[in-house]
Amino acid sequence: MLVGMEAQASRAPRPARGTELELTIDSLAFGGAGVARLDGYVVFVADGMPGDRVRAVVGKSKRAYAEARVVEVLAPGPERIAPVADHPGAPWQVLPYERQLEVKQSQVQDALRRIGRLDQFTLEPIVPAVQQWRYRNKLEYSFGTDEAGRLVCGFHVPGRWDEIVEISDCLLASEPANAAREEVVGWCRAEGLSAYDRRTGEGFLRNLVVREGRRTGQLQVRLVTSEGRLDTAGLIDAVGAPSLLWTRMSGVGETTQGGETELLAGRDRLDEELLGMRVRISPQAFFQTNTEMAEQLYGLAREYADLSGYERVYDLYCGIGTIGLTLSPRAAELWGLELVEEAVADAIANARLNEIDNANFFVGDVRLALRDLVAEAGSPDVLVVDPPRAGLSQKIVRRMIEASPKRIVYVSCNPTTLAPNAAQLVESGYVLRQVRPVDMFPQTPHIECVAVLDRG
Ligand SMILES: C[S@@+](CC[C@H](N)C(=O)[O-])C[C@H]1O[C@@H](n2cnc3c(N)ncnc32)[C@H](O)[C@@H]1O
Repeated sequence: MLVGMEAQASRAPRPARGTELELTIDSLAFGGAGVARLDGYVVFVADGMPGDRVRAVVGKSKRAYAEARVVEVLAPGPERIAPVADHPGAPWQVLPYERQLEVKQSQVQDALRRIGRLDQFTLEPIVPAVQQWRYRNKLEYSFGTDEAGRLVCGFHVPGRWDEIVEISDCLLASEPANAAREEVVGWCRAEGLSAYDRRTGEGFLRNLVVREGRRTGQLQVRLVTSEGRLDTAGLIDAVGAPSLLWTRMSGVGETTQGGETELLAGRDRLDEELLGMRVRISPQAFFQTNTEMAEQLYGLAREYADLSGYERVYDLYCGIGTIGLTLSPRAAELWGLELVEEAVADAIANARLNEIDNANFFVGDVRLALRDLVAEAGSPDVLVVDPPRAGLSQKIVRRMIEASPKRIVYVSCNPTTLAPNAAQLVESGYVLRQVRPVDMFPQTPHIECVAVLDRG
């Protein structure tokens, strides 16, 4: 973290874990925590907003910085507003939306300037969200047990793996998606099913994944459990969702990926529409969680790619192929690469579904398969890359440079990993031209942006 590095010079004594501190929050760090200082020693305070005077309890305590959590706001900062709902997934709802946008804009600038040492580029104004609430097309809930022993379904208390905040109306999900969750939870309670307890390995219910085709109105419900017996006929009767799946997991880790998935009712795929295309999405495939803003993001990638119709385009980390397929009508050929087999099958099907015949998709790890792709397809004119939050390793960036595209369009969900990747590209001769943040996740600190680099 940027601010944490500045604190290394401090000689202030480290607060021990569990210590309660009174702190004033100065600013917001990447990732969303408030930043406070104790004689120069930095404390990252979850749920602290600029100007707040808070009482906070220390969690982690390290040489350079500590992490703490607000237990009481003693005096609210000037910008703090009342929360709309008790929702662990919306920690920035206490900041007016315009301020959220300003902070995200300046954090992108800060990351590129301070981590990447980049300043010769145009930072365009952040694209605000179409909807500030109820924008997510996918929610992953966890099951737990409250103090009275009742089954609850909601989200983890931040920083707590063993405590769940029950959600009755999730304001990040649509009303129909909420109703589907309530149906499943009501049925599980009536059946007397218990939540899985990681400490004892007992209990059955782990997670509930509700996914929605925002444009098609389709809903998909996936119940994730431990190994055990489920009255599937009863569940099918109780839940009206057109797509119902059951995933059994045997490991202790909390994940909804992997395991054995059985289709209980309806189709196992969800259909969605975006930018005039119809796409199918398999249960284990990634899809941008804000459909309306994905259109804005892809529109921006298309603008930055600035294709004329003659280019060979690569779409690395292509998921179900959506970015590439929106570019392909203005490209000569498209080559997509993605690790998850199901997603690549979707990408191929999506090309067919939309009568796109210049697209090729392959399963592969970008780290290992990029050289093979260049050998098979030839060097790209335009390379689009959309990696997970960890960004690209130096080796992958080197492979991209070797592939020698004239233009790179980098879609990033983390400006602190975009910055070193862009810096490495600039060192090798690329010019960072433009960057534009897109607010895919209102009420949260998550930042998405698109950058374009040209070979110098
Ligand atoms: C941020 S998503 C982007 C997906 C797609 N571009 C989209 O807009 O929906 C990142 C994708 O990278 C894939 N992925 C993760 N690690 C990978 C790797 N080493 N090689 C190839 N794909 C990978 C994930 O499965 C996921 O589909």
